[in-house]
Amino acid sequence: MALRSIINLPYSRLRLVSKPVTILDHQVLKLFDDMLETMYDAPGIGLAAIQLGIDARMVTLDLSKRDDSPPQPLFLANPEIVWSSEERSSFEEGCLSIPDFYEEVERPAKVLVRWQDRQGAVQEMEAEGLLATALQHEIDHLNGVLFIDHISRLKRERVIRKFTKMAKRDVPRDSGRG
Ligand code: NI
Repeated sequence: MALRSIINLPYSRLRLVSKPVTILDHQVLKLFDDMLETMYDAPGIGLAAIQLGIDARMVTLDLSKRDDSPPQPLFLANPEIVWSSEERSSFEEGCLSIPDFYEEVERPAKVLVRWQDRQGAVQEMEAEGLLATALQHEIDHLNGVLFIDHISRLKRERVIRKFTKMAKRDVPRDSGRG
């Protein structure tokens, strides 16, 4: 496994629509491992491949760190939301590509997600709570959507301006959670 660098706002690659993964070969599995290691190191609870600059529909997730339980990594290839509830809930979200910025986001409270696991087998899961939010946040990444797209335009423009300014100054900074 190897750590890779996470790309930050305003880098335009974050806006790409990622491509389906067709063959789960050695290279793809290695990328999954690198994603998980990079996510744990950040530290974060979810990561999409595009955050490493790679436009493949791949997501890693692990919510276990939040309550000190043993690691429970999830590897999702080609994840999609097949159903979402009308009921909505709101969580404070963050993103490893937008360090140190957090904002409440309202999304469907429950989702049914389908994906392929590391062996290529199709899996389905109904999720609620933080897991539902994390899944939607990461699947958004695969479509070039960031959580700041779900907040007010004023707040979004402010954070984009801030990160654009920081990128110009090229100040090294630590990654936040998310
Ligand atoms: Ni994110």
